[in-house]
Amino acid sequence: MSDDTSQRAIFATKIGAVAATVGSAVGLGNIWRFPYETGVHGGGAFIACYIVFVLLLGVPLLCAEFILGRGTRSNILGAFRDSSSGGRRWVGAGYMVILSSIMILWFYSVVAGWTLGYCYDSVTGSIAGMDSSEISDHFMEMTTGWRNVVLTVVFLLANAAVLLGGVTKGIERASNLLMPLLFVLLMVLCINSLSLDGLKEGMTFLFHPDFSKIDASVLLGAMGQAFFSLSIGMGCMTVYASYFNKESRLGRTALTTAVLDTLVAILAGVIIFPAVFTYGFSPEKGPALVFEVLPAVFGCMPGGMIWSAIFFLLLIVASITSTVSMSEISISYFEEELKMSRRNATILSSVLAMAGAVVCALSFGPLSDFTVCGMSMFDLLDYVTSNICLPVAGLIISVYVGWVVPARFTREQLTDGGSYPFPLYGVLMFVLRWVCPVAIMLIFLNSIGLL
Ligand code: PHE
Repeated sequence: MSDDTSQRAIFATKIGAVAATVGSAVGLGNIWRFPYETGVHGGGAFIACYIVFVLLLGVPLLCAEFILGRGTRSNILGAFRDSSSGGRRWVGAGYMVILSSIMILWFYSVVAGWTLGYCYDSVTGSIAGMDSSEISDHFMEMTTGWRNVVLTVVFLLANAAVLLGGVTKGIERASNLLMPLLFVLLMVLCINSLSLDGLKEGMTFLFHPDFSKIDASVLLGAMGQAFFSLSIGMGCMTVYASYFNKESRLGRTALTTAVLDTLVAILAGVIIFPAVFTYGFSPEKGPALVFEVLPAVFGCMPGGMIWSAIFFLLLIVASITSTVSMSEISISYFEEELKMSRRNATILSSVLAMAGAVVCALSFGPLSDFTVCGMSMFDLLDYVTSNICLPVAGLIISVYVGWVVPARFTREQLTDGGSYPFPLYGVLMFVLRWVCPVAIMLIFLNSIGLL
Protein backbone atom coordinates (compact mmCIF):
# COMPACT_ATOMS: atom_id res chain seq x y z
CA MET A 1 0.00 0.00 0.00
CA SER A 2 1.36 3.40 -0.87
CA ASP A 3 0.69 6.53 1.13
CA ASP A 4 -0.46 10.07 0.42
CA THR A 5 3.06 11.25 -0.25
CA SER A 6 3.40 9.21 -3.45
CA GLN A 7 3.45 10.99 -6.82
CA ARG A 8 0.00 9.73 -7.70
CA ALA A 9 -2.78 12.32 -7.98
CA ILE A 10 -5.26 12.62 -5.12
CA PHE A 11 -8.34 14.76 -4.58
CA ALA A 12 -7.19 17.92 -2.82
CA THR A 13 -10.07 18.10 -0.34
CA LYS A 14 -12.47 15.74 1.41
CA ILE A 15 -15.45 17.64 0.04
CA GLY A 16 -14.00 17.43 -3.47
CA ALA A 17 -13.74 13.66 -3.07
CA VAL A 18 -17.39 13.45 -2.01
CA ALA A 19 -18.50 15.78 -4.84
CA ALA A 20 -16.69 13.63 -7.42
CA THR A 21 -18.07 10.39 -5.97
CA VAL A 22 -21.63 11.69 -5.79
CA GLY A 23 -21.10 13.17 -9.26
CA SER A 24 -20.25 9.72 -10.60
CA ALA A 25 -23.29 8.19 -8.95
CA VAL A 26 -25.79 10.89 -9.85
CA GLY A 27 -26.42 10.83 -13.56
CA LEU A 28 -28.81 9.79 -16.27
CA GLY A 29 -29.43 6.75 -14.08
CA ASN A 30 -31.24 8.96 -11.57
CA ILE A 31 -33.06 11.39 -13.81
CA TRP A 32 -33.72 9.39 -16.97
CA ARG A 33 -33.53 5.70 -16.04
CA PHE A 34 -34.98 5.67 -12.52
CA PRO A 35 -38.23 7.45 -13.47
CA TYR A 36 -38.89 5.27 -16.50
CA GLU A 37 -38.04 2.05 -14.65
CA THR A 38 -40.36 3.20 -11.85
CA GLY A 39 -43.06 4.00 -14.42
CA VAL A 40 -42.75 0.63 -16.15
CA HIS A 41 -42.61 -1.36 -12.91
CA GLY A 42 -45.64 0.16 -11.28
CA GLY A 43 -44.33 2.95 -9.02
CA GLY A 44 -44.01 2.66 -5.24
CA ALA A 45 -43.36 -1.11 -5.05
CA PHE A 46 -40.36 -0.72 -7.34
CA ILE A 47 -39.06 2.18 -5.26
CA ALA A 48 -39.42 0.17 -2.05
CA CYS A 49 -37.38 -2.72 -3.55
CA TYR A 50 -34.87 -0.24 -4.89
CA ILE A 51 -34.27 1.33 -1.48
CA VAL A 52 -33.82 -2.10 0.11
CA PHE A 53 -31.21 -3.01 -2.52
CA VAL A 54 -29.37 0.28 -2.08
CA LEU A 55 -29.04 -0.28 1.67
CA LEU A 56 -28.56 -4.03 1.66
CA LEU A 57 -26.22 -4.44 -1.32
CA GLY A 58 -25.29 -0.94 -2.47
CA VAL A 59 -23.69 0.53 0.63
CA PRO A 60 -21.63 -2.60 1.47
CA LEU A 61 -20.45 -2.91 -2.13
CA LEU A 62 -19.49 0.76 -2.22
CA CYS A 63 -17.44 0.13 0.95
CA ALA A 64 -15.81 -2.88 -0.74
CA GLU A 65 -14.85 -0.83 -3.80
CA PHE A 66 -13.54 1.99 -1.62
CA ILE A 67 -11.42 -0.48 0.37
CA LEU A 68 -9.83 -1.87 -2.79
CA GLY A 69 -9.23 1.57 -4.26
CA ARG A 70 -7.83 3.49 -1.34
CA GLY A 71 -5.97 0.47 -0.01
CA THR A 72 -4.00 -0.01 -3.21
CA ARG A 73 -4.01 3.53 -4.68
CA SER A 74 -4.06 1.94 -8.06
CA ASN A 75 -6.06 1.51 -11.26
CA ILE A 76 -8.60 -1.31 -11.36
CA LEU A 77 -6.10 -4.04 -12.30
CA GLY A 78 -3.73 -3.03 -9.51
CA ALA A 79 -6.68 -2.85 -7.12
CA PHE A 80 -7.15 -6.60 -7.50
CA ARG A 81 -3.48 -7.48 -7.89
CA ASP A 82 -2.16 -5.57 -4.90
CA SER A 83 -4.87 -6.13 -2.32
CA SER A 84 -4.11 -9.75 -1.49
CA SER A 85 -1.39 -12.30 -2.07
CA GLY A 86 -3.69 -14.25 -4.42
CA GLY A 87 -4.91 -11.06 -6.12
CA ARG A 88 -3.13 -11.82 -9.40
CA ARG A 89 -5.65 -14.56 -10.10
CA TRP A 90 -8.47 -11.99 -9.91
CA VAL A 91 -7.03 -9.56 -12.41
CA GLY A 92 -9.33 -10.97 -15.13
CA ALA A 93 -12.23 -9.35 -13.26
CA GLY A 94 -10.40 -6.03 -13.67
CA TYR A 95 -10.34 -6.47 -17.45
CA MET A 96 -14.04 -7.31 -17.47
CA VAL A 97 -14.74 -4.15 -15.49
CA ILE A 98 -12.72 -2.01 -17.92
CA LEU A 99 -14.61 -3.49 -20.85
CA SER A 100 -18.03 -2.95 -19.27
CA SER A 101 -17.16 0.65 -18.38
CA ILE A 102 -16.36 1.30 -22.05
CA MET A 103 -19.58 -0.40 -23.16
CA ILE A 104 -21.68 1.67 -20.75
CA LEU A 105 -19.98 4.82 -21.99
CA TRP A 106 -20.98 3.92 -25.56
CA PHE A 107 -24.72 4.02 -25.02
CA TYR A 108 -24.64 6.51 -22.16
CA SER A 109 -23.02 9.23 -24.25
CA VAL A 110 -25.67 8.79 -26.95
CA VAL A 111 -28.38 9.56 -24.39
CA ALA A 112 -26.29 12.43 -23.04
CA GLY A 113 -26.14 13.75 -26.63
CA TRP A 114 -29.95 13.80 -26.76
CA THR A 115 -30.01 15.92 -23.60
CA LEU A 116 -27.70 18.41 -25.32
CA GLY A 117 -30.04 18.47 -28.33
CA TYR A 118 -33.16 19.01 -26.23
CA CYS A 119 -31.53 21.73 -24.13
CA TYR A 120 -30.62 23.53 -27.35
CA ASP A 121 -34.11 23.01 -28.80
CA SER A 122 -35.71 24.38 -25.61
CA VAL A 123 -33.51 27.47 -25.60
CA THR A 124 -34.20 28.20 -29.27
CA GLY A 125 -37.88 27.38 -28.74
CA SER A 126 -37.96 24.99 -31.70
CA ILE A 127 -39.91 22.39 -29.71
CA ALA A 128 -42.27 24.95 -28.16
CA GLY A 129 -45.94 24.20 -28.71
CA MET A 130 -45.40 20.68 -30.07
CA ASP A 131 -47.98 18.11 -29.00
CA SER A 132 -46.93 14.61 -27.99
CA SER A 133 -47.06 13.12 -31.48
CA GLU A 134 -45.03 16.00 -32.89
CA ILE A 135 -42.49 15.53 -30.10
CA SER A 136 -42.33 11.81 -30.91
CA ASP A 137 -41.62 12.67 -34.54
CA HIS A 138 -39.00 15.18 -33.44
CA PHE A 139 -37.34 12.59 -31.22
CA MET A 140 -37.43 10.03 -34.02
CA GLU A 141 -35.89 12.51 -36.42
CA MET A 142 -33.16 13.39 -33.95
CA THR A 143 -32.26 9.80 -33.09
CA THR A 144 -32.33 8.42 -36.61
CA GLY A 145 -30.44 11.21 -38.34
CA TRP A 146 -26.85 12.42 -38.29
CA ARG A 147 -27.67 14.95 -35.60
CA ASN A 148 -27.56 12.03 -33.17
CA VAL A 149 -23.94 11.35 -34.11
CA VAL A 150 -22.92 15.00 -33.95
CA LEU A 151 -24.47 15.49 -30.50
CA THR A 152 -22.80 12.36 -29.16
CA VAL A 153 -19.40 13.48 -30.44
CA VAL A 154 -19.83 17.01 -29.05
CA PHE A 155 -20.71 15.56 -25.66
CA LEU A 156 -17.66 13.28 -25.68
CA LEU A 157 -15.42 16.21 -26.61
CA ALA A 158 -16.66 18.12 -23.56
CA ASN A 159 -16.01 14.99 -21.51
CA ALA A 160 -12.45 14.81 -22.84
CA ALA A 161 -11.88 18.49 -22.02
CA VAL A 162 -12.63 17.85 -18.32
CA LEU A 163 -10.48 14.72 -18.26
CA LEU A 164 -7.49 16.42 -19.86
CA GLY A 165 -7.34 18.68 -16.79
CA GLY A 166 -6.43 15.65 -14.67
CA VAL A 167 -7.77 14.46 -11.33
CA THR A 168 -7.59 17.65 -9.26
CA LYS A 169 -7.83 20.42 -11.84
CA GLY A 170 -10.23 18.57 -14.12
CA ILE A 171 -12.46 16.08 -12.30
CA GLU A 172 -12.44 17.62 -8.82
CA ARG A 173 -12.84 21.20 -9.99
CA ALA A 174 -15.68 20.32 -12.37
CA SER A 175 -17.46 18.30 -9.66
CA ASN A 176 -17.13 21.10 -7.10
CA LEU A 177 -18.75 23.45 -9.57
CA LEU A 178 -21.36 21.21 -11.13
CA MET A 179 -22.75 19.33 -8.13
CA PRO A 180 -24.04 22.44 -6.30
CA LEU A 181 -25.47 23.63 -9.63
CA LEU A 182 -27.24 20.29 -10.01
CA PHE A 183 -28.88 20.57 -6.59
CA VAL A 184 -30.00 24.15 -7.27
CA LEU A 185 -31.58 23.11 -10.59
CA LEU A 186 -33.28 20.16 -8.90
CA MET A 187 -34.76 22.40 -6.22
CA VAL A 188 -36.05 24.93 -8.75
CA LEU A 189 -37.80 22.19 -10.73
CA CYS A 190 -39.22 20.57 -7.57
CA ILE A 191 -40.77 23.84 -6.45
CA ASN A 192 -42.44 24.15 -9.84
CA SER A 193 -43.73 20.59 -9.54
CA LEU A 194 -45.33 21.25 -6.14
CA SER A 195 -47.69 23.75 -7.74
CA LEU A 196 -49.14 21.29 -10.29
CA ASP A 197 -52.65 19.80 -10.16
CA GLY A 198 -51.34 16.26 -10.63
CA LEU A 199 -49.16 16.50 -7.50
CA LYS A 200 -51.36 14.20 -5.42
CA GLU A 201 -51.67 11.56 -8.13
CA GLY A 202 -47.93 11.71 -8.82
CA MET A 203 -47.08 11.34 -5.13
CA THR A 204 -49.48 8.43 -4.72
CA PHE A 205 -47.91 6.69 -7.71
CA LEU A 206 -44.44 7.19 -6.23
CA PHE A 207 -45.00 6.57 -2.55
CA HIS A 208 -47.96 4.20 -2.27
CA PRO A 209 -46.45 0.80 -2.91
CA ASP A 210 -48.69 -2.00 -4.14
CA PHE A 211 -46.57 -4.94 -3.00
CA SER A 212 -48.57 -7.41 -5.09
CA LYS A 213 -46.76 -5.97 -8.09
CA ILE A 214 -43.39 -7.33 -6.96
CA ASP A 215 -42.18 -10.14 -9.23
CA ALA A 216 -38.85 -11.31 -10.63
CA SER A 217 -38.70 -8.57 -13.21
CA VAL A 218 -39.34 -5.88 -10.60
CA LEU A 219 -36.60 -7.36 -8.38
CA LEU A 220 -34.06 -7.69 -11.19
CA GLY A 221 -34.95 -4.23 -12.46
CA ALA A 222 -34.55 -2.70 -9.00
CA MET A 223 -31.22 -4.43 -8.39
CA GLY A 224 -29.84 -3.50 -11.81
CA GLN A 225 -30.97 0.07 -11.23
CA ALA A 226 -29.34 0.21 -7.78
CA PHE A 227 -26.03 -1.01 -9.24
CA PHE A 228 -26.22 1.32 -12.22
CA SER A 229 -27.21 4.33 -10.18
CA LEU A 230 -24.51 3.87 -7.54
CA SER A 231 -21.90 3.16 -10.25
CA ILE A 232 -21.20 -0.19 -8.59
CA GLY A 233 -19.42 -3.07 -10.28
CA MET A 234 -17.78 -0.77 -12.78
CA GLY A 235 -14.61 0.11 -10.98
CA CYS A 236 -15.43 3.84 -11.00
CA MET A 237 -15.78 3.86 -7.26
CA THR A 238 -12.59 1.84 -6.84
CA VAL A 239 -10.64 4.21 -9.05
CA TYR A 240 -12.09 7.33 -7.41
CA ALA A 241 -11.32 5.92 -3.96
CA SER A 242 -7.73 5.48 -5.10
CA TYR A 243 -7.65 9.30 -5.25
CA PHE A 244 -9.19 9.76 -1.74
CA ASN A 245 -6.85 11.26 0.80
CA LYS A 246 -6.23 9.75 4.21
CA GLU A 247 -8.94 11.80 5.90
CA SER A 248 -11.80 10.40 3.82
CA ARG A 249 -13.79 8.02 5.97
CA LEU A 250 -14.87 5.18 3.74
CA GLY A 251 -18.03 4.01 5.52
CA ARG A 252 -19.37 7.52 5.89
CA THR A 253 -18.58 8.42 2.28
CA ALA A 254 -20.38 5.27 1.09
CA LEU A 255 -23.49 6.13 3.08
CA THR A 256 -23.45 9.80 2.02
CA THR A 257 -23.14 8.77 -1.62
CA ALA A 258 -26.01 6.28 -1.38
CA VAL A 259 -28.30 8.71 0.45
CA LEU A 260 -27.68 11.65 -1.91
CA ASP A 261 -27.97 9.46 -4.97
CA THR A 262 -31.30 8.03 -3.82
CA LEU A 263 -32.52 11.49 -2.89
CA VAL A 264 -31.79 12.80 -6.39
CA ALA A 265 -33.56 9.82 -7.99
CA ILE A 266 -36.66 10.35 -5.84
CA LEU A 267 -36.64 14.10 -6.47
CA ALA A 268 -36.46 13.38 -10.20
CA GLY A 269 -39.61 11.28 -9.72
CA VAL A 270 -41.21 14.16 -7.82
CA ILE A 271 -40.38 16.48 -10.72
CA ILE A 272 -41.60 14.16 -13.45
CA PHE A 273 -44.69 12.23 -12.31
CA PRO A 274 -46.91 15.10 -11.07
CA ALA A 275 -46.26 16.80 -14.43
CA VAL A 276 -47.03 13.62 -16.36
CA PHE A 277 -50.34 13.12 -14.50
CA THR A 278 -51.32 16.79 -14.65
CA TYR A 279 -51.42 16.70 -18.43
CA GLY A 280 -52.90 13.22 -18.72
CA PHE A 281 -49.89 11.29 -20.06
CA SER A 282 -49.03 7.68 -19.24
CA PRO A 283 -46.10 6.97 -16.89
CA GLU A 284 -45.37 3.65 -18.64
CA LYS A 285 -43.60 5.02 -21.63
CA GLY A 286 -40.22 3.38 -20.91
CA PRO A 287 -36.92 4.97 -22.05
CA ALA A 288 -38.81 7.60 -24.07
CA LEU A 289 -40.49 9.02 -20.94
CA VAL A 290 -38.05 11.88 -20.53
CA PHE A 291 -37.58 12.55 -24.24
CA GLU A 292 -41.06 12.11 -25.71
CA VAL A 293 -43.47 12.67 -22.85
CA LEU A 294 -41.76 15.33 -20.81
CA PRO A 295 -41.16 17.93 -23.54
CA ALA A 296 -44.85 17.69 -24.44
CA VAL A 297 -45.66 18.12 -20.75
CA PHE A 298 -43.42 21.19 -20.55
CA GLY A 299 -45.10 22.47 -23.71
CA CYS A 300 -48.42 22.60 -21.82
CA MET A 301 -46.98 24.59 -18.90
CA PRO A 302 -46.79 28.34 -18.69
CA GLY A 303 -43.13 29.28 -19.32
CA GLY A 304 -42.64 25.68 -20.40
CA MET A 305 -39.52 26.14 -22.52
CA ILE A 306 -37.68 27.72 -19.60
CA TRP A 307 -38.51 24.71 -17.42
CA SER A 308 -37.55 22.42 -20.25
CA ALA A 309 -34.17 24.12 -20.75
CA ILE A 310 -33.48 23.93 -17.00
CA PHE A 311 -34.45 20.26 -16.91
CA PHE A 312 -32.19 19.28 -19.81
CA LEU A 313 -29.34 21.37 -18.44
CA LEU A 314 -29.74 19.37 -15.24
CA LEU A 315 -29.40 16.18 -17.26
CA ILE A 316 -26.26 17.44 -19.04
CA VAL A 317 -24.62 18.35 -15.74
CA ALA A 318 -25.53 15.00 -14.20
CA SER A 319 -24.28 13.10 -17.27
CA ILE A 320 -20.89 14.68 -17.58
CA THR A 321 -19.83 14.05 -13.99
CA SER A 322 -20.71 10.38 -14.60
CA THR A 323 -19.06 9.93 -17.99
CA VAL A 324 -15.90 11.46 -16.60
CA SER A 325 -15.81 8.72 -13.96
CA MET A 326 -16.44 5.97 -16.52
CA SER A 327 -13.61 7.25 -18.70
CA GLU A 328 -11.25 7.51 -15.74
CA ILE A 329 -11.24 3.69 -15.42
CA SER A 330 -9.60 3.14 -18.79
CA ILE A 331 -7.48 6.30 -18.52
CA SER A 332 -5.94 5.23 -15.20
CA TYR A 333 -5.34 1.78 -16.71
CA PHE A 334 -3.61 3.25 -19.79
CA GLU A 335 -1.54 5.57 -17.64
CA GLU A 336 -0.40 3.12 -15.02
CA GLU A 337 -0.30 -0.24 -16.74
CA LEU A 338 0.57 0.84 -20.29
CA LYS A 339 2.69 3.80 -19.09
CA MET A 340 1.03 6.42 -21.28
CA SER A 341 0.97 10.14 -20.51
CA ARG A 342 -2.29 11.55 -19.15
CA ARG A 343 -2.83 13.35 -22.44
CA ASN A 344 -2.34 10.30 -24.62
CA ALA A 345 -4.38 8.11 -22.29
CA THR A 346 -7.25 10.62 -22.46
CA ILE A 347 -7.04 10.81 -26.25
CA LEU A 348 -7.01 7.01 -26.61
CA SER A 349 -9.92 6.60 -24.22
CA SER A 350 -11.91 9.32 -26.03
CA VAL A 351 -11.25 7.81 -29.46
CA LEU A 352 -12.39 4.39 -28.24
CA ALA A 353 -15.46 5.97 -26.67
CA MET A 354 -16.32 7.87 -29.84
CA ALA A 355 -15.88 4.87 -32.14
CA GLY A 356 -18.33 2.70 -30.17
CA ALA A 357 -20.71 5.55 -29.36
CA VAL A 358 -21.05 6.52 -33.03
CA VAL A 359 -21.97 2.92 -33.94
CA CYS A 360 -24.45 2.97 -31.07
CA ALA A 361 -25.89 6.29 -32.24
CA LEU A 362 -26.30 4.89 -35.75
CA SER A 363 -28.17 1.86 -34.41
CA PHE A 364 -31.31 3.99 -34.41
CA GLY A 365 -31.01 4.82 -38.10
CA PRO A 366 -28.68 3.33 -40.73
CA LEU A 367 -27.65 0.38 -38.52
CA SER A 368 -31.11 -0.40 -37.15
CA ASP A 369 -31.28 -3.70 -39.06
CA PHE A 370 -28.31 -5.02 -37.16
CA THR A 371 -29.85 -6.73 -34.12
CA VAL A 372 -28.79 -9.38 -31.62
CA CYS A 373 -31.56 -11.41 -29.92
CA GLY A 374 -33.99 -8.89 -31.38
CA MET A 375 -32.25 -5.98 -29.69
CA SER A 376 -30.51 -3.07 -31.37
CA MET A 377 -26.91 -2.36 -30.40
CA PHE A 378 -28.12 0.38 -28.05
CA ASP A 379 -30.70 -1.81 -26.26
CA LEU A 380 -28.29 -4.71 -26.12
CA LEU A 381 -25.58 -2.64 -24.42
CA ASP A 382 -28.03 -1.21 -21.91
CA TYR A 383 -29.44 -4.66 -21.10
CA VAL A 384 -26.15 -6.56 -20.96
CA THR A 385 -24.26 -4.00 -18.89
CA SER A 386 -26.98 -3.21 -16.33
CA ASN A 387 -28.47 -6.66 -15.92
CA ILE A 388 -25.43 -8.87 -16.43
CA CYS A 389 -22.03 -7.10 -16.25
CA LEU A 390 -22.72 -4.93 -13.20
CA PRO A 391 -24.32 -7.67 -11.05
CA VAL A 392 -21.62 -10.21 -12.05
CA ALA A 393 -18.88 -7.73 -11.18
CA GLY A 394 -20.73 -6.90 -7.94
CA LEU A 395 -20.73 -10.62 -7.13
CA ILE A 396 -17.01 -10.93 -7.83
CA ILE A 397 -16.14 -7.85 -5.76
CA SER A 398 -18.20 -8.98 -2.77
CA VAL A 399 -16.69 -12.48 -2.83
CA TYR A 400 -13.17 -11.12 -3.34
CA VAL A 401 -13.30 -8.52 -0.56
CA GLY A 402 -15.38 -10.75 1.74
CA TRP A 403 -13.34 -13.95 1.41
CA VAL A 404 -9.96 -13.30 -0.17
CA VAL A 405 -8.68 -9.87 0.90
CA PRO A 406 -7.04 -10.19 4.36
CA ALA A 407 -9.08 -8.80 7.28
CA ARG A 408 -6.08 -6.67 8.27
CA PHE A 409 -6.28 -4.84 4.95
CA THR A 410 -10.03 -4.17 5.06
CA ARG A 411 -10.02 -3.17 8.72
CA GLU A 412 -7.06 -0.84 8.20
CA GLN A 413 -8.96 1.01 5.46
CA LEU A 414 -12.25 1.23 7.30
CA THR A 415 -10.71 2.51 10.53
CA ASP A 416 -7.73 4.37 9.09
CA GLY A 417 -5.33 2.07 10.87
CA GLY A 418 -7.38 2.17 14.09
CA SER A 419 -7.70 5.98 14.29
CA TYR A 420 -11.48 5.78 14.53
CA PRO A 421 -13.95 2.96 15.16
CA PHE A 422 -15.98 1.12 12.53
CA PRO A 423 -18.44 -0.75 14.76
CA LEU A 424 -20.28 -2.35 11.85
CA TYR A 425 -17.24 -4.23 10.58
CA GLY A 426 -18.69 -7.67 11.41
CA VAL A 427 -22.02 -6.82 9.78
CA LEU A 428 -20.31 -5.49 6.65
CA MET A 429 -18.21 -8.63 6.30
CA PHE A 430 -21.23 -10.87 6.83
CA VAL A 431 -23.14 -9.01 4.14
CA LEU A 432 -20.23 -9.12 1.68
CA ARG A 433 -19.57 -12.81 2.33
CA TRP A 434 -23.10 -14.14 2.35
CA VAL A 435 -25.91 -11.70 1.68
CA CYS A 436 -24.58 -10.02 -1.47
CA PRO A 437 -23.51 -13.20 -3.27
CA VAL A 438 -26.67 -15.12 -2.36
CA ALA A 439 -29.05 -12.24 -3.18
CA ILE A 440 -27.37 -11.50 -6.50
CA MET A 441 -27.32 -15.19 -7.50
CA LEU A 442 -30.97 -15.80 -6.55
CA ILE A 443 -32.29 -12.83 -8.44
CA PHE A 444 -30.12 -13.58 -11.39
CA LEU A 445 -31.11 -17.26 -11.65
CA ASN A 446 -34.73 -16.34 -11.23
CA SER A 447 -34.55 -13.81 -13.99
CA ILE A 448 -33.12 -16.29 -16.47
CA GLY A 449 -35.79 -18.80 -15.53
CA LEU A 450 -33.60 -21.31 -13.68
CA LEU A 451 -35.37 -20.94 -10.35
N1 PHE B 1 -24.27 6.09 -11.82
C1 PHE B 1 -24.38 6.71 -13.08
C2 PHE B 1 -25.82 7.17 -13.28
O1 PHE B 1 -26.64 7.00 -12.45
C3 PHE B 1 -24.01 5.81 -14.21
C4 PHE B 1 -22.73 5.13 -14.03
C5 PHE B 1 -22.70 3.76 -14.02
C6 PHE B 1 -21.58 5.89 -13.84
C7 PHE B 1 -21.52 3.10 -13.80
C8 PHE B 1 -20.38 5.26 -13.66
C9 PHE B 1 -20.37 3.88 -13.63
O2 PHE B 1 -26.14 7.71 -14.29
